[in-house]
Amino acid sequence: MSDFKQIKQFKAVNWDQVNDAIDKATWEKLTEQFWLDTRIPVSNDMDDWRTLDEDHQWLVGHVFGGLTLLDTVQSEQGMASLRQTVRTQHETAVLNNIQFMESVHAKSYSTIFSTLNTPDQISEIFEWTDTEEFLQNKAVRITNMYMDPTVDPLKKKVANVFLETFLFYSGFFTPLYYLGHNKLNNVAEIIKLILRDESVHGTYVGYKFQLGMKELTDNQQQDMKDWMYNFLYELYDNEERYTSILYDKVGWTEEVLTFIRYNANKALMNLGQDPLFPDTAKDVNPIVMNGISTTTANHDFFSQVGNGYRLGEVEAMEENDYFVADPNDK
Ligand SMILES: [Fe+2]
Ligand SMILES: [Fe+2]
Repeated sequence: MSDFKQIKQFKAVNWDQVNDAIDKATWEKLTEQFWLDTRIPVSNDMDDWRTLDEDHQWLVGHVFGGLTLLDTVQSEQGMASLRQTVRTQHETAVLNNIQFMESVHAKSYSTIFSTLNTPDQISEIFEWTDTEEFLQNKAVRITNMYMDPTVDPLKKKVANVFLETFLFYSGFFTPLYYLGHNKLNNVAEIIKLILRDESVHGTYVGYKFQLGMKELTDNQQQDMKDWMYNFLYELYDNEERYTSILYDKVGWTEEVLTFIRYNANKALMNLGQDPLFPDTAKDVNPIVMNGISTTTANHDFFSQVGNGYRLGEVEAMEENDYFVADPNDK
């Protein structure tokens, strides 16, 4: 027996009646910052690439392999799982936008590979990505939460925010480090566009989580918090091992771990929770923080396209972008 219930009526999404102003603000932000990987001239980075030794080239290729896997999870399972428990039809539209951009992110690493790496190297990177134990651990752990219908939908949102705002950052460290040293600037441009998207995704899903959290009893909220912090520890433990595999050879492991603890705190902040680790922005390598804070240079890059494709003005996401007026406050 199926528990499928036929619907009697279908409701058209009405953007003239938006119940949650955050849905509309997020839709506008995301569509305004739309981009495509094919418009960034990665081949301009070939001279920089040739100056890297074998260990550093290996690192760049494999962090992008790991990031490809995580963006694949988000595009194939992440958003589909969140879409099952939306609060508004506009939220569905926002999640649709996010899902497509996750496919753009996943594809953009291939644009980088096909420019910098040989076909044999690319095959090896994908083979590694599909089998590396600690990378697979995180992808499989999160995906199983997404796909399991018995998992609390709020916990799926926590998994989503941990992926968006925490688990990506062991990979983002490398291109940001090079950007801070004025190397691989076009590769970094792609990463910064991805990072700007992830920042909105993590904030938005975290906000929807907080709405659901408020509806729980005090005891249920405490249980959710306990579960969340344990889950974060579990993921961090795995992340330490993953980071070590990627970074021991070049000696950056400790610096990367500081950076990911800083981002774990940000993920908790997106979920309305207190930080877990003592690390703050001041503890992170300033060259990497500098890479994060500079605004994207995409105006210059896009102007090379010359096909009359006009982009909206874009700027880095800031916290007060989320202070939008409540339409019910008149
Ligand atoms: Fe992504
Ligand atoms: Fe994302």
